[in-house]
Amino acid sequence: METLEIKIGLNEDYKMDVTNKLNVLLADFQIHYMNLRGLHWNVKGRNFFLLHEKFEELYNSTNDVVDEIAERILTLGLQPLHTFEDYLGNKTIAIVKNTSNGDDAVNSILNNLNLLLVQEREIMEMASDNNDEGTASLMSDLISEQEKLTWMLTAYLS
Ligand SMILES: [Fe+2]
Repeated sequence: METLEIKIGLNEDYKMDVTNKLNVLLADFQIHYMNLRGLHWNVKGRNFFLLHEKFEELYNSTNDVVDEIAERILTLGLQPLHTFEDYLGNKTIAIVKNTSNGDDAVNSILNNLNLLLVQEREIMEMASDNNDEGTASLMSDLISEQEKLTWMLTAYLS
């Protein structure tokens, strides 16, 4: 694999280390994306119209996040994972399958958001310690969006 040498003033070892973590996060966001599509398709019940539409909004925004993480890795001069095989080999969050109950669907999203937040905070700390403001600010944006979403989904269930 040919990689570009991108001169952005960051240490080479650090770039490798943070990319390993970003690739796990990327794999997890791809699983999260496919989970959301499955929930969009499979949800049933009284809240069908509301949840079907909300899950579509969430998988579309998750698709954008996937691209931002992958392009951050490319900006670091490294290679984002891009096959289903690699995603399945690196993911850490749960695959959600055949869930049609609305509350179960929302709970599964909350559980996975929590795991994504933990990873994002770890990456943000590592990036901050290495003066990698670009990666830190990407994590910071993801964290505040997901925290707000966590509030809203928790309010939905209460
Ligand atoms: Fe659809």
